[in-house]
Amino acid sequence: MKILVTGGTGYIGSHTVLSLQEAAHEVVVIDNLVNSSEESMRRVAELSGTAPEFHNVDLVNEAAVERVFAAAGVDAVIHFAGLKAVGESVREPLSYYYNNLVGTLNLVRAMERHDVRSIVFSSSATVYGEHNAVPYVEKMEIGANNPYGRTKEQIEDILSDIGTADDRWNIALLRYFNPVGTHPSGRIGEDPQGIPNNLVPFIAQVAVGRREKLMVLGGDYDTPDGTCLRDYIHVVDLAEGHVAALNHVADHAGVFRWNLGSGKGSSVLEVLRSFEKAVGRPIPHEITARRAGDLPAFWADATSALADLGWSTTKTVDQMCEDHWRWQENNPNGYAG
Ligand code: UD1
Repeated sequence: MKILVTGGTGYIGSHTVLSLQEAAHEVVVIDNLVNSSEESMRRVAELSGTAPEFHNVDLVNEAAVERVFAAAGVDAVIHFAGLKAVGESVREPLSYYYNNLVGTLNLVRAMERHDVRSIVFSSSATVYGEHNAVPYVEKMEIGANNPYGRTKEQIEDILSDIGTADDRWNIALLRYFNPVGTHPSGRIGEDPQGIPNNLVPFIAQVAVGRREKLMVLGGDYDTPDGTCLRDYIHVVDLAEGHVAALNHVADHAGVFRWNLGSGKGSSVLEVLRSFEKAVGRPIPHEITARRAGDLPAFWADATSALADLGWSTTKTVDQMCEDHWRWQENNPNGYAG
């Protein structure tokens, strides 16, 4: 198939582009490069032997989106593009609602005009909010607690209403848990701009000497070691989950929701220890105050993706840290060198 990948130059996007090429799909990427680098596409081409077709297009520009659809002739879409920092979304909600919702509406309208009705959407476990018990199951009532999460929830609602109204649509809503790690080559990876919000990119920057120490955000939670538990998933497993979902929606109409996670929780200190093992030395850290909005523990019920897609995670937290470290050590300043 020929697949349009929005946000394909980013962290999860670039790994998914590579997995799609490895599964013999042709890939067209659109991205506005607001939070990523076109260098990732050069590296993907080096790994796969094929350069993805790339368009520097912002999804909020409807005419530009239309031009790509008119020229490319795609069969299906994987939609990653969007703003994704929780704290920033609290400070700038309008920009999050505008970018994420208008971008999605433009994309889906172009799909309809061009008779493309298969879409895999990059959602998040954040849609489960604070009110659900763990493990999270797809049938639970969702309700995010921040503007970023609400854009994910609202896009899920929009797509699901479209799929309910018209049974020609094939829609997969993928709820990611905590993606970490990089391609084992160390050539593509996560390259956050500014101070990393997420745990593993922060640890990696401490390990490479770009930051002084990790702040462990809370050591007094009601968990075995007092730090929060999360369901970490290797980004290559996650990318493979998209290929599996795409294959499923290619011949099943309807709206599907799948958790992409491992089904088990690891603590902040466990991840830190794995990363220290990968680096071969201790990583400076300090236990500090909790971060507002953090939940003590959550992980996926990962049984639906296994039953429906035959997909499950294969890689351990140790492998995630080894791969992430190889990327960071070889590219101390990310794609900038
Ligand atoms: C965060 C977002 C979530 C988003 C996900 C994407 C928040 C509150 N939640 O999830 O909506 O979908 O990223 O990957 O931002 N930690 C530290 N020190 C740090 C950074 C993190 O101790 O410098 C801890 C956190 O307290 C948490 C764990 O590490 O317990 C994981 O944090 P993070 O990587 O930010 O992921 P989430 O909070 O699960």
